[in-house]
Amino acid sequence: MSEITYDYMEEYIRSLIPEASEKFKELEEFAKENRVPIAQKETAKFLEFIVSMKKPLRILELGTAIGYSAILMFEASGFKAHITTIERDENMIKYAKENFGKYNLEDKIEIKEGDCLEVLEKLDKPYDLIFMDAGKGHYNHFLPHCLRLLNEDGIIVADNVLFRGMVASDDLVKRRKITIVKRMRKYLDLVSKDENLITSVIPMGDGIAVTKRR
Ligand SMILES: C[S@@+](CC[C@H](N)C(=O)[O-])C[C@H]1O[C@@H](n2cnc3c(N)ncnc32)[C@H](O)[C@@H]1O
Repeated sequence: MSEITYDYMEEYIRSLIPEASEKFKELEEFAKENRVPIAQKETAKFLEFIVSMKKPLRILELGTAIGYSAILMFEASGFKAHITTIERDENMIKYAKENFGKYNLEDKIEIKEGDCLEVLEKLDKPYDLIFMDAGKGHYNHFLPHCLRLLNEDGIIVADNVLFRGMVASDDLVKRRKITIVKRMRKYLDLVSKDENLITSVIPMGDGIAVTKRR
């Protein structure tokens, strides 16, 4: 159980999502077999919805893993967006490169290898959509860079913001996760209380926060 919503609710919502295409089924299967955390089904659907509505031309992703969400966002953009995605794990970089190669996406999806914070510091071109999905304990540190890089009407989508419910309830917090939880609460405070921003927190998947400028 995700501790975010009731099991029966999650199961019902998932049952509404149509079967994925062969490509995404293969990626999902690989992620499951190799225990790679990729966007949960309903989060992936939400991302697909936001991207197809917003039609961003430039997307920045923090956390590539095997490239599942990057490929999903590329397709949802009508095969038009240029995606920059950051990953530091060598194995993941290898898998993602193989997948981007397999689907001829090397020119469309660019992997920046390294730690998100270090890569973010060096980026200077604006993005229409930023998907934060790496380093849960550092979203608050990534935020100033993401705001610097975000277009005037851009959107930040942050995944895992409720972190198995721990962010919302002290009763669920595991001792070794205390720092991550505190930092994630700080992130949610920052994006919720800044009067220049508008943020909506959605209890879906592992918790999603969507932020834009007012
Ligand atoms: C949840 S997975 C990303 C899943 C992917 N967005 C998807 O849905 O298909 C998070 C990834 O971020 C990477 N990661 C974690 N912290 C990082 C950091 N500080 N810098 C770069 N990559 C990081 C991990 O190696 C992992 O592959």
